Amino acid sequence: MQSPRLEIANIVKDYGGRRVVDDVSLQVMPGQVTCLLGPSGCGKSTTLRIIAGVEKQDRGTIHVDGKLVCDTVFRLPPEARSIGLMFQDFALFPHLTVGQNVAFGLQTRDAGARVQALLDKVGMTRHIDDYPHQLSGGEQQRVALARALAPKPQIMLMDEPFSGLDDRLRDDIRDETLAVLKDEGTAVLLVTHEPGEAMRMADEIALMRDGRVVQQGAPYNIYNAPIDRAAAAFFSDINVIPGVVQGALTDTPFGQFLAPGLPDGTEVDIVIRPQHLKIDFDRGGRGPKPTSSEGTAARATVARARFMGASSLVEFRMDYDGSILKAVVPSVFLPKPGTALWLMIRRDRCFVFPRA
Ligand SMILES: Nc1ncnc2c1ncn2[C@@H]1O[C@H](COP(=O)(O)OP(=O)(O)OP(=O)(O)O)[C@@H](O)[C@H]1O
Ligand SMILES: [Mg+2]
Repeated sequence: MQSPRLEIANIVKDYGGRRVVDDVSLQVMPGQVTCLLGPSGCGKSTTLRIIAGVEKQDRGTIHVDGKLVCDTVFRLPPEARSIGLMFQDFALFPHLTVGQNVAFGLQTRDAGARVQALLDKVGMTRHIDDYPHQLSGGEQQRVALARALAPKPQIMLMDEPFSGLDDRLRDDIRDETLAVLKDEGTAVLLVTHEPGEAMRMADEIALMRDGRVVQQGAPYNIYNAPIDRAAAAFFSDINVIPGVVQGALTDTPFGQFLAPGLPDGTEVDIVIRPQHLKIDFDRGGRGPKPTSSEGTAARATVARARFMGASSLVEFRMDYDGSILKAVVPSVFLPKPGTALWLMIRRDRCFVFPRA
């Protein structure tokens, strides 16, 4: 078993009596990207600043390669932690050239070779003598990455480093950055509030809420097995169908759902993402036959349908109670408002949670 490059355990931080980081523990393996993902104000940047050493935790420990870096008594200063930083406002030194910016933190004799190699990696060699104001946002970003990597940090902490870039450029820079970081074997802890960015970049996601890590795992697992309704809703729109448990089952207009382990009378939310609703045609007032994988179909009329390019977003008003359910379907399908259709719920794609 490989040991973690970065390990933080039971980190706690209060500001003015308010707990902002609440018992956070995390590991990042060498060459891996872990994403700290969560809504604004949940404590992501504070956690990162504590690891960097520019903020002091009230409790908890930080180890790098098994060596204590910081607890509440001992503190290695930030510059001795072998940690590289890249933040949203990654200001380059305006009076230094690209080459001088990247060489800035290097005292070694082979600094020139290292600068060359890094600029090569990020595709900026021909800009070595340019000044930052002569570069585009994406180019500046590449230089900032090279500068942060120059001293060969064991760990790279990145706080929303791509948020200043426009959409298309951001995708490219993310992928390039990831390739360079993997190539360097750096362990990365990346902070973001965008689930798309986290899924694109991360080997592991730690989902944070109100100062706590509420779920941790590979993107596939976090997306497909969310721990609760809010975790599901953080990654996409969701549909919620209410139910009440009776004999480990809950009855709904879509048939029965399993609710194992929940006592009779428990109110539950059956959660399904819009792309996992199945749509079928109306056959003179009748729908498709029930199946074990998709349950019973429920009748609905199209309230609104929007063309979104690769897909269409269709809002259905359900006959059974007038509520709205959303479905994402391939864009070849764009039904007219008022069309009667039948909806089914894929049993392998729905989640049953006790109501909060
Ligand atoms: N130095 C400070 N003094 C007092 N409160 C602070 C301080 N730094 C952060 N906070 C508070 O701690 C909470 C968490 O802040 P933090 O910056 O860690 O959030 P975040 O998850 O990074 O959010 P965002 O996605 O908006 O950047 C916020 O409510 C913030 O107001
Ligand atoms: Mg932040």
